[in-house]
Amino acid sequence: MTVDVSEESRTPGTSVEEAVKDYYGKVLASSADLKTSACCTDAAPPPHIAAALGRVHEEVLDRFYGCGSPIPPALEGATVLDLGCGSGRDAYVLAQLVGPTGRVIGVDMTDEQLAVARRHTDWQAQRFGYANVEFRRGYIEDLAAAGIGHASVDVVVSNCVVNLAPDKPRVLAEIFRVLKEGGELYFSDIFADRRLPAALMTDPVLVGECLAGALYTEDFRRLLERNGCTDARTVTASPVTIDDPDIDRKIGFAAFTSRTVRAFKLPLEDRCEDYGQVAVYRGTVPEHPHAFDLDDHHRFRTGKPVLVCGNTADILSATRYAPHFTVTGDKSAHFGLFPCAPADAEGTADVGAACC
Ligand SMILES: C[S@@+](CC[C@H](N)C(=O)[O-])C[C@H]1O[C@@H](n2cnc3c(N)ncnc32)[C@H](O)[C@@H]1O
Repeated sequence: MTVDVSEESRTPGTSVEEAVKDYYGKVLASSADLKTSACCTDAAPPPHIAAALGRVHEEVLDRFYGCGSPIPPALEGATVLDLGCGSGRDAYVLAQLVGPTGRVIGVDMTDEQLAVARRHTDWQAQRFGYANVEFRRGYIEDLAAAGIGHASVDVVVSNCVVNLAPDKPRVLAEIFRVLKEGGELYFSDIFADRRLPAALMTDPVLVGECLAGALYTEDFRRLLERNGCTDARTVTASPVTIDDPDIDRKIGFAAFTSRTVRAFKLPLEDRCEDYGQVAVYRGTVPEHPHAFDLDDHHRFRTGKPVLVCGNTADILSATRYAPHFTVTGDKSAHFGLFPCAPADAEGTADVGAACC
C-alpha cells in the first residue's frame, strides 16, 4: 500500500514553508483578508468558550485563521500543545480551561504570528490571574527541536495547520511521540475527498488558503494507522465553500470539508468489536452536565446506560475522561463485530448499540 503524502516529504525551510510563512506573516493582515471559508469558522462557540474568548486580546482575535474549534472538554490540569498556534487565540482560550495547574505550549514557525501571540502574554496572565502559556518558534515536523519531550503532553490540538505542512507523516509521528499514553489528539483541519495534484502546492494562495495541502481522508486514516492509531473519531464535519471564482477554477474539482477529529494514543482494535460493555456518563464535566458527545454519533446522556464497542469502552476508561464515566464489563466474552446502528432522529446513536 502506497501512501502518496510521503512523496511530499521535505525538511523544514522548504519553499512550501517559506510561502506559508509569507502568507500568514505578510500577505494576510487579519481574518478579513482570507479568500475562502476554508481558514475560518462561522460556527458559534459554546458559552464557556465564548466567555473565554471574551478575555482574549483583540489583536490576537483579529489574526485568527483557524477553521474550527479544537477545544475538547475536561482539560483542567492538562498539558496542552497547540501546533501552529498562530497569534495564540486557541492557546489563550485553552490556558483558561486548563487553569493554573495546567499549561499550554504553542508552536509556530512564523515570526509575525508569534510576535502577536507573545506581545500579550503578560496582559493575558494578568487577566487570568496566572501565567501558564508559552510560545515557541519551531516546526511541527520537528517538535523535539522545539523542546517537546517524549510522552510529555496530555492533549495535542491544532487549528487548520496540518494541511499546510508538506511532511504530514513526520507531523503525525511527532504527535504520537509527544503524547502520553492515553493522550488525545483533537484537531480541526481541511480534508479533501481525493489526493490533489502535487503541482497545486506551488500556488501560494491555494496552499495558504488551506486547500492545496488538504488531507485526503483515506490517506489521513493510513497515516494514523502507521502510528498505531486505528480508530479516529469525527466530532464535526461541514462542507467548505469556495466563493472566489479564480480559486474555484483551479481546485473546484475536489470537495473539501472542515472537520474536527479526535484520536487517542491507545492500543485500539481496527474494527469495533462487541464485548457486551456498557458505559454511563456521570454528568461531571462542568460545561456538559446533561450529555457528553464523544463523536458525531455517540451522545452519552447523563445517567443513561449505552452499549459500547470495545474501543469506545477503552477510550472512556483509559483516558482523562475515565473519571466521568462508569464502564462495566471486560473483554472476556466476545459477541462478534459490534452492530452499527443508524443514527437516531437527533443524529446520534444513543439508543443502545452504536459503533464507530
Ligand atoms: C491557518 S493558520 C492557523 C493559525 C492558528 N492555529 C489559528 O487558529 O489562528 C496556520 C498557522 O500554522 C503555521 N504553520 C504552518 N505550517 C507550519 C509548520 N510546518 N510548522 C509550524 N507552524 C506552521 C503558520 O505559521 C500559521 O501561523
